[in-house]
Amino acid sequence: MKNIVILISGGGSNMAAIVRAQQQGGWREQLNAQVAAVISNRADAAGLAFAQAQGIATRVVDHKAFASREAFDAALADAVDGYQPALLVLAGFMRILTPAFVQRFDGRLINIHPSLLPAFPGLHTHQRALDAGCQFAGATVHQVTAELDHGPILAQAVVPVLAGDTADALAARVLSQEHLIYPEAIVKMLQNI
Ligand code: GAR
Repeated sequence: MKNIVILISGGGSNMAAIVRAQQQGGWREQLNAQVAAVISNRADAAGLAFAQAQGIATRVVDHKAFASREAFDAALADAVDGYQPALLVLAGFMRILTPAFVQRFDGRLINIHPSLLPAFPGLHTHQRALDAGCQFAGATVHQVTAELDHGPILAQAVVPVLAGDTADALAARVLSQEHLIYPEAIVKMLQNI
């Protein structure tokens, strides 16, 4: 069985979309794959309750309990490795990962970012897109490399910016597209590993 481990920090709506896609698409039978665990760096991440309700193993590795980024990443990597992942999926995981962590999961580590990369890496992507006068915004699924929000692009969704858009309104429309492209990109990856 190809295990998928998902890292979250908050609401976990992308994680939930992936779990629902697994259920509706019969990933266990069709792809020999399953979401084996959801791990959060925050104990109050709302997505943990959803994962538990689906019978998925959950773990919390609290970054505040570690003296350095390296120590946190080492503990996180050990927790992840406990589930022997074929694929490690960042889904609203709001911590910058060290090169050592990225190297350890090289080739099986993917992220979703709420912009049309390479535009707007980092935070506040929707406000920055509005401020720049972009006519289109969107989201990108990409392989993770040591450089933040870079790495080979696996999928993108384009969302028109509407007159009078706010960052929140744009974010909500982009998020609904994230829920479509992330499971699709994962299926493509699973077919090749
Ligand atoms: C999503 O929009 C995701 O693209 C973004 O956080 C949100 C998480 O929502 N990720 C990043 O900004 C990563 N730098 P979710 O917790 O409901 O999936």
